[in-house]
Amino acid sequence: MKDLRHILIFCAFACTLPACAGVHRVMAEPDSVSLFSYTTADDDGRSGLRFAWSSDGRHWTSIGNGRSYLRCDYSLWGSEKRMLKPEMYRSADGMWHCVWQLHAGGREFGISSSADLTDWRRQTYFTDARFTDCVQSSWTRYPQAEAVIGGASYSGTVAKVAWADVERLIRYAGYNDYRQSLYNECAAQDGVRFARLQPVSLTLTARPADTKAISDHLIGVFFEDINYGADGGLYAELVQNRDFEYAEGENGNVKGWGPAYAWAVEGSGASMTIGTSSPIHPNNPHYATIKSGSDGMALVNSGYDGITVRKGEKYNLSLFVRLAGSQTKAAKIRVSLRGSNGRELAYAVVKAAPGGWKKLKATLTASESDAKASLVVAPVSAGTYDFDMISLFPKNTFKGRANGLRADLAQTIADIRPRFVRFPGGCVAHGQGIDNIYRWKNSIGPLESRKPMKNLWGYHQTMGLGYFEYFQFCEDIGAMPLPVIAAGVPCQNSACIPGRLLGGGQQEGIPLDSMEAYIQDIIDLIDYANADPKTNKWARMRAEAGHPKPFNLKYIGIGNEDQITDVFEERFTMIYEAISSRRPGITVVGTVGPFYEGSDYEEGWVLADKLDVPVVDEHYYVAPGWFIHNQNFYDRYDRSKSKVYLGEYAAHLPGRPNNIETALSEALYLTSVERNGDVVEMASYAPLLAKKGHTQWNPDMIYFDNGSVSPTVGYYVQKMFGNNSGDSYIPADRALDNSRADVDLRVASSVVVDSNTGDVILKLVNMLPVEVNTTADLSSLTDGGRALLTVLSGSPSDTNAKPVDSSVTFGSKFSYAMPPYSFSVIRMSGKSK
Ligand code: AHR
Repeated sequence: MKDLRHILIFCAFACTLPACAGVHRVMAEPDSVSLFSYTTADDDGRSGLRFAWSSDGRHWTSIGNGRSYLRCDYSLWGSEKRMLKPEMYRSADGMWHCVWQLHAGGREFGISSSADLTDWRRQTYFTDARFTDCVQSSWTRYPQAEAVIGGASYSGTVAKVAWADVERLIRYAGYNDYRQSLYNECAAQDGVRFARLQPVSLTLTARPADTKAISDHLIGVFFEDINYGADGGLYAELVQNRDFEYAEGENGNVKGWGPAYAWAVEGSGASMTIGTSSPIHPNNPHYATIKSGSDGMALVNSGYDGITVRKGEKYNLSLFVRLAGSQTKAAKIRVSLRGSNGRELAYAVVKAAPGGWKKLKATLTASESDAKASLVVAPVSAGTYDFDMISLFPKNTFKGRANGLRADLAQTIADIRPRFVRFPGGCVAHGQGIDNIYRWKNSIGPLESRKPMKNLWGYHQTMGLGYFEYFQFCEDIGAMPLPVIAAGVPCQNSACIPGRLLGGGQQEGIPLDSMEAYIQDIIDLIDYANADPKTNKWARMRAEAGHPKPFNLKYIGIGNEDQITDVFEERFTMIYEAISSRRPGITVVGTVGPFYEGSDYEEGWVLADKLDVPVVDEHYYVAPGWFIHNQNFYDRYDRSKSKVYLGEYAAHLPGRPNNIETALSEALYLTSVERNGDVVEMASYAPLLAKKGHTQWNPDMIYFDNGSVSPTVGYYVQKMFGNNSGDSYIPADRALDNSRADVDLRVASSVVVDSNTGDVILKLVNMLPVEVNTTADLSSLTDGGRALLTVLSGSPSDTNAKPVDSSVTFGSKFSYAMPPYSFSVIRMSGKSK
């Protein structure tokens, strides 16, 4: 990837640097100048490695206005990622090596190398004990110095370099500034940019001779338990903290977060304590004990922002109860729904027998609708009661599944017609430190035996929505499952462990002597999904859970936008080779870091090439301007290399809205992804779900609260693509009657054919403030006739636009005026019909 990009950088930029060219022309060109390398002390170097140059060693000029050329990626954002006392070295082969301290005290270091000071290789972290292994004595070490730059004094190192080296740094900064100015283009500037623009005409002529096959599973969804997407969201459980397993410290922002969170006890003299003695299951060690000497006590759950019930709907209640040892008679417990006005909306009485934990069930039918009801569990007689796993589900879950999903939310996802579902993350998959890596085995089996854990987004995962439920959901919506498993390393932004040299963080990958067991877990997952219950223990568990037939797992993601380090590579390689040899039918999706460029992207691709990984996962959250200016991103990809899963992407504007501007830029880009559907195999917008008032991340695709679902304009783009996918792409000759590049870049189209229906589908995106009058000649593909036209349009800042469908008649050659700021899909029958 890299070489081609560098050529493009050079070509694109060679003629655009009057300022640098000016510097080059007017100043004397010394054979060598001094290059000062430094970081800023006030932020402990978090803003990265900077350079300044001088011809006399006394007067220094900042390069690239203090831009950073290398940043430390060790451990947590905020408190870590420090670059202290950077030192520069050079080896005989000309490579530069930057070595810096991760913490004051000089016991832990980071190192990265570069041939040109702009393109830095993977970072490696080491302790002082390994200093001489990592920093070779044969390297030239540049001396420490002080320099005054722009009036401020800095410490750093000074090296003599050729002027060309400085010039390259200046050019690199200029190129990036120029590029950034393109990416910052936004619709708010359109009034000026397109002030006198008249409607544009576009002619498209399909070229069926150049038809190419594209992925038939291009559009999917990325599900992660972020923004309360699972518990309190898609997972239909209405009781919050049903298992009393919320742990202190999981959510530092919320007062009272812990085992009793969301619960209250009522009744005079009644008390609630959290017990741990002889729990239902060791994975679920906490329960509530309520005690009262007189009648009238109750345990009350407030749900997730209240429990929303609808009149006439049935709710399935279950709970585990243990009567105190002294109670020898069965005890009645009254369970009810209490409306926000205090009225009882439903009740049932269950009976607990003495002698250990008993599971009780009841059905409650709501007599009224209420958005903020609560669940009341009230022993009828005074005494001591242990309660656990108090659960309430609507009977009407998606497809009526037990332990199921919220019907309205699941249906909204299903309506996209996603061809795959990626789960359980995102960062949730690789976790905050190795103990927080998502272990699929903790998410299956009876609910009381699942092992809940901290959600790295700052709350709690019950694991009630576990691997069985994910697989079942995929099957229910006709999507392929795409589980993503940590590559034996946690998130690169994991905290290090205080007091331990290089303890924690990504550097603390799963110990190598535990990797075989970790790999076996992955093999077991494949078998859980695919094997025969007669011969495989894990498949038997699947059958016992109600699904004897295989789930047909074909893809498995290993790693999530990880930092590509030695620790990562070693573990990824072990996992990849084990899956390839032991379960060869499974396609492994590797990972190439969190951005569309940079050392993780480059190193990730090198590793993918080395191992011949079939697919790699790319992520980028970028400005609409990036999408506008990178529609050729995949055109230049080498078709002989790994395929791409564009696993996370979204357009981000300041303030992070999800509006017509962001949505259209995604649509524009997706037409280029369709064009490159021979190399991009799958794509999923991220994140998918967000509960209003509980977001850690914006924008998201679908917002919701307890009672309603609010799809975004970005959702409708996904739905229009998902419902109008094809499996072959037909290039079209294109002519625009306007020669402006900025106009050209804002008009996009794609033509695909869906071989299942024979339909020909034309997608048209217009990001201009004027109409684009389109003349399309699709006569080689269709005879025309009735067609379904779907149009999404609005002003750029519109967050409420919805697509409008109409049935229209088109000839095989037709005219269509794309409205300003719009995305149109025209679906018509193909000639083959
Ligand atoms: O989609 C939100 C987060 O973005 C994901 O968890 C992570 O993979 C990425 O950084």
